[in-house]
Amino acid sequence: MEHATVVVSGTKIAEEVATSRSEVWRLIQQLRGLGVDVAGHPATGYQLRSVPDLLLPEILRPMLDGTIFDENIHHFYKIGSTNSAAMSAAAAGAPEGSVFLAEEQTAGRGRGSNSWQSPRSTGIYCSVVLRPPLPPSDVLPLSLAVAVAVRSAIRQVDSRVTPDLKWPNDVLIDGKKVCGILTEMNAEATRVRYIVVGMGINVNQPSFPKELSAISLGLITGSEWSRVELLTALLKSLHREYRYLLENPDARESVLHRFAENSSWVYGKKVRIEENGSTFEGTTEGLDPRGFLQVETAHGMQLVLSGTVRER
Ligand code: BTN
Repeated sequence: MEHATVVVSGTKIAEEVATSRSEVWRLIQQLRGLGVDVAGHPATGYQLRSVPDLLLPEILRPMLDGTIFDENIHHFYKIGSTNSAAMSAAAAGAPEGSVFLAEEQTAGRGRGSNSWQSPRSTGIYCSVVLRPPLPPSDVLPLSLAVAVAVRSAIRQVDSRVTPDLKWPNDVLIDGKKVCGILTEMNAEATRVRYIVVGMGINVNQPSFPKELSAISLGLITGSEWSRVELLTALLKSLHREYRYLLENPDARESVLHRFAENSSWVYGKKVRIEENGSTFEGTTEGLDPRGFLQVETAHGMQLVLSGTVRER
């Protein structure tokens, strides 16, 4: 990538990576199979036709300098689920700020028992390990803060886009999902051991099955987005929100306020809630101080703790 668009001979590459020309050929074929656009062959040399928008640690690390995410970045071309990888790594002691990225997930997981479609190099599939010194009851504001961070990263890259936050942590544009967040944790009754925040952002997907009600940022703006630029903005923004939540006594209130401010769902939305196998209807009435959604129903105010919210 340091010599993009220049033709480099197979011999030179072989020397640089201390291998044979035939091994270079095999590796180039492997890169092509992963979607990297390399022209040429052993006789003429190779040329990287364009710098690929891959989420490589070497590229991200310098841009994340000074954040908790700059030291332990793990990149996979193909993996089952970055959340599963991050949960296992956290259980084995991975430090706070470890980042797990994939170009493609073969078993991407969503909330509940949903799956998350993760086609190669079109979306961002990213999970981070956090170890906040908080009780489990304070994790909801943190996961709401992630949605706020995603929204602000998108707006930082293109301020024409106005994402809408849907409780607890979906990011929608024109009513369609552009980002989903899956927060998983391992905790004692009073203390979080670790949290994994998994973010799936639809960046450059050209289309979606109708039944998904999803959209990509590229489809919204009609142009290709740089995943590297968006991911860098996201991790910086997440770093700021996280530090702010841990260091500032008023932060939780501010997060809830900013979430509500940028959500058409938190006040006055007629909704149907599915929670633990039952369903109820009502109108949203804001967030309570812990971040739960309040819904005014025919039988009084109900709190939504973990249910699925749909407009009715
Ligand atoms: C949802 O809206 O249901 C949450 C979707 C979360 C998807 C992301 S993609 C990266 C990380 N790895 C996973 O398997 N899931 C999350």
